Amino acid sequence: PKIFVITPTYARLVQKAELTRLSHTFLHVPQLHWIVVEDAPQPTSLVTDFLAASGLTYTHLHKLTPKDRKLQEGDPSWLKPRGAEQRNEGLRWLREMGAAAKGKEAAALEEAVVYFADDDNTYSLQLFEEMRYTYRVSVWPVGLVGGMKFERPVVEDGKVVRFHTGWRPNRPFPIDMAGFAVSLRLTLTNPQARFDGDAQMGFLESSFLQSLVTMDDLEPKADLCTKVLVWHTRTEKPKMKREDALQKQGMGSDPDVEA
Ligand code: UGA
Ligand code: MN
Repeated sequence: PKIFVITPTYARLVQKAELTRLSHTFLHVPQLHWIVVEDAPQPTSLVTDFLAASGLTYTHLHKLTPKDRKLQEGDPSWLKPRGAEQRNEGLRWLREMGAAAKGKEAAALEEAVVYFADDDNTYSLQLFEEMRYTYRVSVWPVGLVGGMKFERPVVEDGKVVRFHTGWRPNRPFPIDMAGFAVSLRLTLTNPQARFDGDAQMGFLESSFLQSLVTMDDLEPKADLCTKVLVWHTRTEKPKMKREDALQKQGMGSDPDVEA
């Protein structure tokens, strides 16, 4: 089965580095279709050229987060959800494509899976083989998240019975975006399922999953959720002290060189 990976991304100093690292992971994964959704009013040349040279099968979309829904400089990072509009745009494209598919193509889509991969996390290749066969929603541990070494679904007798998390375990699905994949069939048969850009902190994943499954339906992967195969890594913001100083003297780095 095919894996459709939806990645929201936005312009910042580390964007090309993040996309490079991510694409090199995906190049090792068979049958992967990358849906890259830029948080931008138009597709940028950086991402357009990057994807064309990537060697991956991809779809390039864009959807600007409305200003009132976007974090402003100085806002605490938990104030508003990130990437919600972009993931919804990816879902919209999948539903449009699903509706248009016929015959063999449509049959293949029945088995496909959808994964939401942020551009800054670290993904093992094994993760993709774990999620590849997903009937409804599969789940697994996520490392270095929520102020913990890892968070994970707790499995008893092959079923998810609760979640190991340090924060509000009673959320409907206390699980990071990196910790689940959804069958495309389920996404197509539930066209109302989407990410709520107004969800309060920690409830973005629940806003989507709630309309698709209950805890009882979850399919535990990664050896009954005992293996960490994805890490919620975050990249440090590079300091530009020297760059700014040189720029003031008219000696900044050549703006025609893409970094
Ligand atoms: C955590 C979760 O891992 C995210 O999946 C979730 O969207 C986020 O919290 C949230 O609560 O909204 P975190 O590392 O804090 O992640 O978020 P980022 O990695 O900064 O952003 C998630 C994705 O959205 C990334 O792919 C990023 O490129 C994208 N993004 C971020 C945008 O498209 N626009 C923005 O303005 C910011
Ligand atoms: Mn992140």
